[in-house]
Amino acid sequence: MPIDVAAEVMANRPLSTDYNVLSLAAPAIAAAAAPGQFVMVKIGSGPLGGNDPLLRRPFSVFEVLRANDGTPAGITLLNKRIGPSTSLIYSARPGQVAACLGPLGRPFTIVDPPSEAWMVAGGVGLAPFAALAGALRERNVKTILFYGARTGGELFYLDFFRALGVELVLTTEDGSTGERGRVVAPLERRLAERSPAAPAMIYACGPEGMLAATARTAAKFGRPCQVSVERIMGCGLGGCYSCVVPMRGDDGKFHHVRSCIAGPVMAADQIRWD
Ligand SMILES: Cc1cc2nc3c(=O)[nH]c(=O)nc-3n(C[C@H](O)[C@H](O)[C@H](O)COP(=O)(O)OP(=O)(O)OC[C@H]3O[C@@H](n4cnc5c(N)ncnc54)[C@H](O)[C@@H]3O)c2cc1C
Ligand code: FES
Repeated sequence: MPIDVAAEVMANRPLSTDYNVLSLAAPAIAAAAAPGQFVMVKIGSGPLGGNDPLLRRPFSVFEVLRANDGTPAGITLLNKRIGPSTSLIYSARPGQVAACLGPLGRPFTIVDPPSEAWMVAGGVGLAPFAALAGALRERNVKTILFYGARTGGELFYLDFFRALGVELVLTTEDGSTGERGRVVAPLERRLAERSPAAPAMIYACGPEGMLAATARTAAKFGRPCQVSVERIMGCGLGGCYSCVVPMRGDDGKFHHVRSCIAGPVMAADQIRWD
C-alpha cells in the first residue's frame, strides 16, 4: 500500500544549474520502496504548500537513505528542472515540507548471476539506477551502466556507481566525455561481442526515443529488456488515464494500459513504440 506523508526536506544538493538531489525524511516510504518505483511529490509555492502547482509530479526513488543503525530514514530524488514543479524542487530549502505519496508502480525484476545487468540511462533517466545498482551488488551481479548525456557536466554520480563495482560506459552528444554520440551505439557493440549463450538483462530509462532504440537493439540480439517509461502522470494511482501506453495483451492485440499501475517498468517487447 502506498503511504502519504508530509516529508521534511533534509537537504538539497545542487549538481548543476538544472539538476539537484533532494533528500526527504520519509522512513516508511524508504522502507517499502523497491528499485524502479516512484513517488508523487509536490512542494507548494505558498506558505502552507498552497494549490500552485495543483497536482503532484512523479519522481523515481533515487536513493534510500539510512540512519547509522541501518534503518531506512528517507529517500532522495534526482531532479531535473524543466517546469514549475521541478523548479520548486530545485530551489527547495531544508525544513520545507513536501507532500510525498509512494512507493508507487511496478519495480524492476532483478536478475541473479550468471546473468549480467546492463543499465542504459539517458539524462535524468539515471534516476532509478542508483537503487537498482545497489540491489544488484547485493546479489553479486556483474553490472554495466551505459550512461549518455548532452555534455560531460551532466553526467552525475559516476563515483557512486564505481564504488558499487559498476563498469561505466559514457557517451555525450558533444563528445566532451566518453564517446561522442548516442548511448545505444556502445550498447549495440557490446551486445554484438557477447556470446548469445551468456545471459544479460537490459534495463533502460530515459527519453522515449532512446527507450525505443534500446528496445529495438535488445530485440535484434534476442535479449530481454525492461524499460521504465516516463509518461505525464496526473495521479499516479490509476484514476486519470493521463499515462497510457499501447501494450500487447494476452490476446496479442495492443491495449492502452495505465503506466502508473502496469508500470512504470514494463517489458520492452510488449510496448508498441511507433
Ligand atoms: C514514473 C516517472 C518517474 C520520473 N522520475 C523523474 C525523476 O526521477 N527525476 C526527474 O527530474 N523527473 C522525473 N520524471 C519526470 C517528471 O515527472 C517531470 O519532469 C515533471 O512532472 C515536470 O513537472 P513540472 O511542473 O516541472 O513541468 P511541466 O510544466 O509539468 O512540464 C514541462 C514540460 O515537460 C513536459 N513533460 C512533463 N512531464 C514529462 C514526461 N514525463 N515526459 C516528457 N515530457 C514531460 C510537459 O509536457 C511540458 O512541456 C518522471 C516521470 C515519470 C512518469
Ligand atoms: S497517472 Fe493517473 S492513471 Fe496513471
